[in-house]
This record gives sequence, C-alpha cells and structure tokens, in this order.
Amino acid sequence: MHIAKNILKKIDKFFFNKYFQDIISRNTFGNFKLNKNNLKDIQRWIFFFEHIKKNKISGNIVECGVGNGVSLSIICYLKNYYEMESIKIYACDSFKGFPKPKKLDFFKRKHNKGDWSHTNIEYVKRNLKSFGIDDKTINEIRFIPGYFDTTLKNLNTNKICILHLDCDLYDSYKTCFKELKQNISEGGIIVLDEYFEDNTNNPFPGAIIATNEYIKENNASLLYKNNKGYIIN
Ligand SMILES: C[S@@+](CC[C@H](N)C(=O)[O-])C[C@H]1O[C@@H](n2cnc3c(N)ncnc32)[C@H](O)[C@@H]1O
Repeated sequence: MHIAKNILKKIDKFFFNKYFQDIISRNTFGNFKLNKNNLKDIQRWIFFFEHIKKNKISGNIVECGVGNGVSLSIICYLKNYYEMESIKIYACDSFKGFPKPKKLDFFKRKHNKGDWSHTNIEYVKRNLKSFGIDDKTINEIRFIPGYFDTTLKNLNTNKICILHLDCDLYDSYKTCFKELKQNISEGGIIVLDEYFEDNTNNPFPGAIIATNEYIKENNASLLYKNNKGYIIN
C-alpha cells in the first residue's frame, strides 16, 4: 500500500510537471480553458488506470460524451503512459450536441437540444493534437458518431475495462447503462463525471437519478475519488 502510494505520487508529479503544468501555464486547450477541476479529474484518471493495471482488468475503454475531447486526451495520454497498446478506445458522441432533455434534467439551469453542437470529430482531433497526443494514437481512436440509442445497440466493444459516462442527461445515462453494462469486465470501472459527493447544486439531476436507479437495480456500490463517483463492477 505504502509503495503504491509512492508510485502514485511519483506519477502525479511526472504527469503534472512534464505534461499538464505546461499546458496549464499556457492555459489553453483549443478554445477550452483548463481549471482546478480538470486537475482533480486528471488525478482521478491516474487512480483508475492504476486500478486497471494493478488488477489486470482486461477490456477496452469506452467514452460516452466526448465533447471537446478533454477527458479523451487524458485517456489517450494515460493509455500510452501505462503502455496499454492493445486497448482500443471508443469515443461515442452525437457530435451534434444533446438530444432533447427531459424536465427531470433541469435544476436551476435549463438544458437544450443541441447544446454542445459546436464540437465534431475533426475539432476533437485538433484538440487532441494541440494537447500533444500523437497522430498514431489519434488515428486509432474509434469515433462512433450518432445518438446513443442508435449507436450503442450494435456497438461491438468486446469487454470494457473503463466506461466513462460524461453525457449529462437522464435518457443518455439510461441508454449507456442498458446497452453497455453486460460488456463491463469484472473489476472494470464505470467513471461517473456528473455524480458528486454533494449533489445539492448539481446542474445534471437526471444523470444522478439514472445512476441511482442503476445502483439500486444492480446492487452496485458507489465509491468516490476526489469527491466524484465511480462504480467498480
Ligand atoms: C459534457 S459534454 C462531454 C465533455 C467531454 N467529456 C470533455 O471532456 O470535453 C457532453 C457530451 O455528451 C453528448 N451527448 C449527451 N447525450 C448524448 C446522446 N444521447 N447521444 C450522443 N451524445 C450525447 C453531447 O453531445 C456532448 O458532447
């Protein structure tokens, strides 16, 4: 345990100093500005990759909600850092923005169909490149454009070691859980981007409701890293 902690510290240091510090000092990522929460997320991702590596969890990585490609760049970077060549990355997004949200998705802030429609595959690829991800890694990503209720049904990912859910809305979360849960390896991780330890002011209540339903139906337990939730399958 002590050794693992030290390794994590070293990796953190390497990661922040040699890579993200540089970007943070420039404070640009395409048109996107990094903030403190991104740093917390990077630490979370290091923790998840350590888990996969240490416990030899097999499978591919699936991200639902690619957006600007910020989390995708972290995934690409860590996949290379941990030398997981055989792992494939599936990057799923409508690339046309949100589908129509439900009323239960609103709390203080309203969301609209088409929010996030500024992004597309070429834009994400450019962002990944500007973040220092090499062409080979970018070209190997399997981009899956389209709404999840049509794309995930027939998506043959084989086993999944990490499922990243960052798609904000009730229906979107429900579809991801329904279509992908049977593929998640034992010991695999569902990374929840919207689920906080304190959800009092969470602008994405639909994502929380859908996750709570999944937890109840599957007798799953919710864990937290850096105040945000994840589930070990
Ligand atoms: C918050 S953004 C993702 C941010 C991204 N992970 C990043 O780091 O930049 C949410 C994304 O989920 C996508 N999305 C939400 N519901 C979807 C659905 N049902 N089908 C496809 N894409 C969906 C949106 O198009 C949007 O790009």
